[in-house]
Amino acid sequence: MADIKLDKITKDYGKHKGVFDLDLQIKSGEFFVILGPSGCGKTTTLRIIAGLETPDSGRVYLDDVDITDYPPKDRNMSMVFQNYALYPFMSARDNIAFPLKKKKMSKQDINRKVEEIAETLSISDILDKKPGQLSGGQRQRVALARAIVKEPKVFLMDEPLSNLDAKLRISMRAELKNIQRKLGITTVYVTHDQIEAMTLADRTAILDGGKLVQLDSPLKIYEQPATIFVAGFMGDPPINFIDVEIENSGEQSIIHVGSQSFTLSGNIPVKKAVLGIRPEDVRVSEKGLKAKLYFEQVLGSRYIQHFKLDGLDKDVLSVSTHAQYKDGEEYYITFTEGKIFLFDKETGKRIL
Ligand SMILES: Nc1ncnc2c1ncn2[C@@H]1O[C@H](COP(=O)(O)OP(=O)(O)OP(=O)(O)O)[C@@H](O)[C@H]1O
Ligand SMILES: [Mg+2]
Repeated sequence: MADIKLDKITKDYGKHKGVFDLDLQIKSGEFFVILGPSGCGKTTTLRIIAGLETPDSGRVYLDDVDITDYPPKDRNMSMVFQNYALYPFMSARDNIAFPLKKKKMSKQDINRKVEEIAETLSISDILDKKPGQLSGGQRQRVALARAIVKEPKVFLMDEPLSNLDAKLRISMRAELKNIQRKLGITTVYVTHDQIEAMTLADRTAILDGGKLVQLDSPLKIYEQPATIFVAGFMGDPPINFIDVEIENSGEQSIIHVGSQSFTLSGNIPVKKAVLGIRPEDVRVSEKGLKAKLYFEQVLGSRYIQHFKLDGLDKDVLSVSTHAQYKDGEEYYITFTEGKIFLFDKETGKRIL
């Protein structure tokens, strides 16, 4: 068991920086991701859970025990830092063994444990090298091994993959997920990379300016974003936002997009809104909004079309798995019904 609860945590660094009134409940065994842009308070939150930072107010609980005033060493948590923080003059083996030596474990047991974990992480052959002689990915695994070998109740990871190249990041993601599943350790993982959140998280908390804006499974957040900010943060290529004007006519609403319009069923109670539509929900069809394709990006496995619409200053993007369009041609595009979001212009909250 290792449930973590943050109860109304505030850490105020002034000028609206820090974290504010943050409530989080992280379930035992869960892979929990804290996601948000730079400066939104991710590291601060993680450091408060680790005990490296004291909140101004609010309490931290581990399995219903109030640990707010416990020093880090009494929390039974392991933290993996972005820069790995390995001891440069120690071999990988000694780095991994370090927390066990501190626990006064016998030499034999230490050796056995280090060999075991090295095997799991495929680093047995580099154990006698120093960090300086290792690649980023290997260092990352040594740091991970050092965290795992402690057998903590909780793993805390602060952007542990951000220093790796794209290819290694993909394989390390799979490896991390695999290890976490195998060990079943409650994991709190911080990242600004929405793809990491999508692929790793059981649940994701999205922070903006130190405040929680949405908490759910990543897919649910993708499909039902609570605000413009969340919708714009999740998705690649990013969601299209279009300022629209709305006219109600009984059972239907007319949505004005630039100089054109289309109808939506239902009565939408606002006159102006921001329409959000994901590129995969923009379709070329027989009729719809007239759109000129001025550029198609070829990515190999998929194609991104940039459309210009009369009266709109931003492109509308669509994405497809086949190249089927010609630059410079006119097409008609439609937005898949049921996938159209409308957001309140003032509050940013989703109204449809
Ligand atoms: N010790 C501190 N003193 C003053 N301000 C701080 C301190 N630590 C963090 N901050 C500020 O609080 C905000 C949140 O910082 P935090 O490090 O938690 O962000 P983050 O989400 O981890 O960002 P990044 O993705 O860049 O790592 C930032 O604006 C930062 O400048
Ligand atoms: Mg950070």
